[in-house]
Amino acid sequence: MGSISREKPHAVCIPIPAQGHINAMMQLAKLLHLHGFHITFIHSEFNYNRILKSRGPSSLEGLPDFRFETIPDGLPPSDENIPQDVKEVCQSTQEHCDIPFRDLVVKLNDVSSEVPPVTCIISDIVTKFTLPTSKEFNIPNIFFCSLSACGFWGFFNYQQLMDRGLVPFKSEDDLTNGYLNKEVDWIPGFKNMRIRDIPSFIRTTDPQDFWFKFLKDETQSAMNATAIIFNTFEDLEKEVLETMSPVLPPIYSVGPLSLMLKEMPTSPLESAGSNLWKENPGCIEWLEGKMPGSVVYVNFGSIAVMSNKQLVEFAWGLANSGHDFMWVIRSDLVKGESGVLPKEFLNEICGESGRGFLASWCPQEKVLLHPSVGGFLTHCGWNSTMESICAGVPMICWPFFADQQTNCHYACTVWGNGMEIENNVKRDEVEGMIRELMEGEKGKEMKKRALEWKRLAASASKQDGSSLTNLKKVIDEVLIPAK
Ligand code: UDX
Repeated sequence: MGSISREKPHAVCIPIPAQGHINAMMQLAKLLHLHGFHITFIHSEFNYNRILKSRGPSSLEGLPDFRFETIPDGLPPSDENIPQDVKEVCQSTQEHCDIPFRDLVVKLNDVSSEVPPVTCIISDIVTKFTLPTSKEFNIPNIFFCSLSACGFWGFFNYQQLMDRGLVPFKSEDDLTNGYLNKEVDWIPGFKNMRIRDIPSFIRTTDPQDFWFKFLKDETQSAMNATAIIFNTFEDLEKEVLETMSPVLPPIYSVGPLSLMLKEMPTSPLESAGSNLWKENPGCIEWLEGKMPGSVVYVNFGSIAVMSNKQLVEFAWGLANSGHDFMWVIRSDLVKGESGVLPKEFLNEICGESGRGFLASWCPQEKVLLHPSVGGFLTHCGWNSTMESICAGVPMICWPFFADQQTNCHYACTVWGNGMEIENNVKRDEVEGMIRELMEGEKGKEMKKRALEWKRLAASASKQDGSSLTNLKKVIDEVLIPAK
């Protein structure tokens, strides 16, 4: 157990209150804790209560030198069993969190406080509301990007896309008339990019569109950060990282954070979870009975939504592929209602001795690392993409929004570990792609590439690897200011 030392460097870590961002920030916080930092990890009050319900009090107990604090997200109180709307959360935190955040930093720094003085703030890449506080108290503010570097760079170039008249779209027709396939060849660091590969919030006719403006402004504000940490590794995103480096404050790529953590002695915080959903029991046990590489794992992360029609097309595509599958269907995956799957699918394909296992949430990292998993049908959220790389599992990509389109483009055209499925999903295509992934020549090639990325990710995280070297650098150069 750690103890309180007023001498320790003290990092205040604040993720935007959304699952993918919380998970990655938690990994970074644990890593810094293992490197001798006192940590204050900030949850929104809503999420704190949700985690309490889904994982129990032990996951939020922390340690004397790893503590949880909360601030309100500014939204009216609501039922913790119903996930919040991520757009409302982002809007509200942007408008209402600056003062609660400042108050918390003042409280932590009070002479009567038993924690060490705050020496750095680690802010999620979309929490620029922390900047006035760090400026006022002269505390380094390091932005942490839980998105891919290529996704971040796409958002960062939103202003340029606007200046060149490519955004906003002229009309809704631009979504279907081939405009999405227009090449964008002038963004340095990007190759063979089309409009469709740029993070999706440019697909609007309204220059005041919330997501477009939010990501444009938030990513631009990274220029005011002391430094930026990315959850990626140099071999994976070399070109983009090298292009961004002279433009941005100092950048450090220290990922995959999950592997970096595995290289360290086990964290005493192993049980400090950050899952907002309760995991279904039995997922790993079900995988135990399956042949190596035989199961398709399907999960669309914590935010993506689909229509019931799309859900049903995925269902029959999976069923008709003939392969075993584990499919995580979140309670809020289907727009406006809970998903309704055909009875025959539920009884015959997913019944007691069926080929399919359905869950509403699972321990994803463990599932991907299980030898029975042979392929991953994913929305290409950055955490899922990195977890897939760490496990050497090839992907079928069905990007939903944000950086996912860019991640998909890289997986399919640069990294070679992915293939994309039409957004307007059809059962025959799902079936065909799963067969290709699990049995075909392309699938074999993708598996080879996936294993190569797994090897490179592992070597980045080891002694003398680029990510571990960068982690030491960011600690020495930025997080622990010279006396
Ligand atoms: C969000 C954005 O949507 C995404 O574009 C961005 O890159 C990161 O933030 P999200 O959609 O939730 O993320 O996807 P992802 O980044 O993949 O994060 C989901 C996390 O939840 C992963 O760490 C995954 O392991 C975990 N998870 C998901 C589970 O543990 N169990 C599940 O059943 C589903």
